[in-house]
Amino acid sequence: MIQTEIGTDLKKAKLLLDASEIISIPTETVYGLAANGKNPIAIAKIYAAKKRPLSNPLILHYKDASSAFQDVTTIPKEAEILAEKFWPGPLTMLLPKSKNIPDAVTSGKSRVAIRVPRHELCLSLLNALDYPIAAPSANLYGRISPTSSAHVHEQLNERIPYILDGGICEKGIESTIIGFKNNHVLIYRLGSISIEAIEACIRKKVHINNKIEDKKAPQASGMVKHHYAPNTAMFSIVQKHKEKDLSNCGFIGFDTLHPDFPVENQFLLSKNGNIDTAAKELYRSFHVMDANKFKSIYIEFMPESGIGSAINDRIKRAIQKYTP
Ligand code: TXA
Ligand code: MG
Repeated sequence: MIQTEIGTDLKKAKLLLDASEIISIPTETVYGLAANGKNPIAIAKIYAAKKRPLSNPLILHYKDASSAFQDVTTIPKEAEILAEKFWPGPLTMLLPKSKNIPDAVTSGKSRVAIRVPRHELCLSLLNALDYPIAAPSANLYGRISPTSSAHVHEQLNERIPYILDGGICEKGIESTIIGFKNNHVLIYRLGSISIEAIEACIRKKVHINNKIEDKKAPQASGMVKHHYAPNTAMFSIVQKHKEKDLSNCGFIGFDTLHPDFPVENQFLLSKNGNIDTAAKELYRSFHVMDANKFKSIYIEFMPESGIGSAINDRIKRAIQKYTP
């Protein structure tokens, strides 16, 4: 395969997608690995490039709510209310799929994941196409999600022809995934839209669907343990006492430097304590700290509310790999 090109050429992006190729696209959450969502041949290329198991379905991205809802058979009242409030934006809804959706997108499941992204370049592309874009995060399976075109290039160079560069992702954490069952709203993956915001919008308590994690075939890979880990061993800062020499260890903190680590080994997610900035910086901190080849990386949890809960969820999954 040829070297992967990075650019901002929408026409080129459209031509490639129209020709059943896969490219990387920016969204407000993380970069996606995009294909024509109605074309099983193009969709198969996503799985091959990511080395992703075929049992793990893809999110479809639409230009607006009405085109998204055309591809599902049932629309609960809450789904309409949430779409009105949060689309375009980082909310993904699982709804019963219509026959228009190829089984390749949903891995044969009866529901399809749909969302309308909030990113100008991505929406311009969607508006130029007459199909939705199927896109998982543009990382190799099990690796860290990319929040810049450089991250995508690092993992997928020579595997895809083009990366549409839309700058650094504004949110930095994947979309929140919800579904509807027996009049309940269930969260399948914590993400950029907080549980609190969803509850306030529908004036109803939502439930976390955490039973799924115990099953052999999880319904969302975001629910798979170890999913977001860097290659360097990562531990919670409360385990620091296990390390005799911290001079070759890294620290990822929220807003305050840690007195026990060399200053140059530290990455603060937000020096002024802004939780949205911390979310935006989280995966970049994993990339940067990984490149330092420390013996281990220690990380502290964020305040547990709003998007802080989604950040902590990703941190837990990252450290679980090394502390089973
Ligand atoms: O923010 C995001 O959601 C990003 C951007 C690119 O949109 N996408 C993303 O996709 O994170 P991915 O594939 O990395 O994670 C989507 C998760 C997967 O864990 C998948 O298993 C789950 O959504 N999912 C997709 N379709 C599903 C379905 N029909 N039923 C159950 N889970 C589904
Ligand atoms: Mg992913």
